[in-house]
Amino acid sequence: MQFIVIALILQVCLGQDINDNSFPDDFMFGTATAAFQIEGAWNEDGKSPSNWDVDIHNNNSIVADGNNADIACDSYHKYKEDVAMMKAMNMNHYRFSIAWTRILPNGYGGEVNQKGINYYKNLIKELQLNDIQPFVTIFHWDLPQTLQDYGGLLNDSFVDWFSEYSTVLFRHFGDDVKWWITFNEPQSVCSGGYGAGIVPPLIKSPAIGEYQCVHNLIKAHAKAWRIYDQQFRKTQKGKVSISLNTHSHLPATDSKENRTAAETQQLFQLGIYANPIYLGDYPEIVKTRIAARSKAEGRSQSRLPAFTRDEIDFIRGTYDFFALNVYSAYLVNSIAEPPVTDPPSNWADIGVNTYQPDDWEKTSAEHIKVVPWTIRPLLNWIASHYNNPGIVITENGYPSWNGDKDDRRLYYIKNYLSYIRTTMEEDGVKVLGYTVWTLLDNFEWTSGFTQKFGLYEVDFKTLKRTRTPRPSSIFYGKVSKTRCLVEKCK
Ligand code: NOJ
Repeated sequence: MQFIVIALILQVCLGQDINDNSFPDDFMFGTATAAFQIEGAWNEDGKSPSNWDVDIHNNNSIVADGNNADIACDSYHKYKEDVAMMKAMNMNHYRFSIAWTRILPNGYGGEVNQKGINYYKNLIKELQLNDIQPFVTIFHWDLPQTLQDYGGLLNDSFVDWFSEYSTVLFRHFGDDVKWWITFNEPQSVCSGGYGAGIVPPLIKSPAIGEYQCVHNLIKAHAKAWRIYDQQFRKTQKGKVSISLNTHSHLPATDSKENRTAAETQQLFQLGIYANPIYLGDYPEIVKTRIAARSKAEGRSQSRLPAFTRDEIDFIRGTYDFFALNVYSAYLVNSIAEPPVTDPPSNWADIGVNTYQPDDWEKTSAEHIKVVPWTIRPLLNWIASHYNNPGIVITENGYPSWNGDKDDRRLYYIKNYLSYIRTTMEEDGVKVLGYTVWTLLDNFEWTSGFTQKFGLYEVDFKTLKRTRTPRPSSIFYGKVSKTRCLVEKCK
């Protein structure tokens, strides 16, 4: 691992050649979106409001440009155009999410909204007609407001709400969908939505409850996976996993303290979710640190709830592959133990310092710096900690400003793919697919339309929402077709 990091730093300084070996024929190239960010039609055909609809309607100052997602890319009406764009790029799969509020407007099981079902059936049919695999995210942050009113993920009943909703999806779409993701980026949901917030994608509840959210979310994921396994797998033959997000965390220097600090940071961000699912139970360091700090705060119990033995066994092994969202990296160094604060923070629980050097190339998003070489140590970290599972990168992408800098998007994608190919070849890490975030510019949560991640540009100034391919989409389409990052592969 250390050797790899040093070798890679040298490689970066000396300049990286693009890998000229072909990707395997069954390697999947795709793009990703999410319902709330593209669909619009926020109150059409029986859809109920989600927490995001309500929070933004109540206070649009939480969005950088004051916009909302009522129309977004209008993909609810223009989905055929979206599929045609993917076809033009020779995509193998399309990762999209289903809006819970279209399927179960009440939030919980019972009344299924047929018009919502029809919309996704039509989308899936259109994908199949064009030979594109549907890759479905069950929950990508838009929770029915009816459930948010009862505490959302902080309510223990969330486990049942979610598994009932998942069951409806498996039943209606499972004959055609072979790839499922239960949750998108749990860390963003629990930290941004219910914690002190490292990333702010959801609207903040009071800064408590992050670990209660983690706990309920993991149980909900496991229950949905088990339902699929017991009731649907035999006939539908699909795969179910969870898209975990992390940056690559690298030790700032090779000292033992900094290596431990980087490991701790990675275990708090990724391991807190991955360890229970892939190995069983939370990482030891996560349990010990939160328990110790909770005690110092005068609490009788750890803020991190404990799984029972039965729960550990129930959760362990609830995966069919490893789904990873990754955009950038941080360097990590050790610090003195942070003082106890009220309210407590996830940052102090981890107890390390993370930073990005000034000379790392910036993008329009504060936390995304362009460091494609850092994917290699991260993939190796996952392979060595979780028994080398098949990895699908379910998000990776470059945010530009007002459509400019597409050349840097192209560079970013090309170089990420190059390091991924090298990691597969030289380190034996199993990477099964890669998914660019995102197909088209869309509603980037609290950044509104200011950050543009799209392979296609969208004109949000008119209701037509005209889509125009960027050069990076031409490049990516060629890669998917030729399986090769350079003019001619070996
Ligand atoms: C994380 C989320 O999954 C997605 O919704 C978001 O737009 C991108 N990454 C970019 O921030």
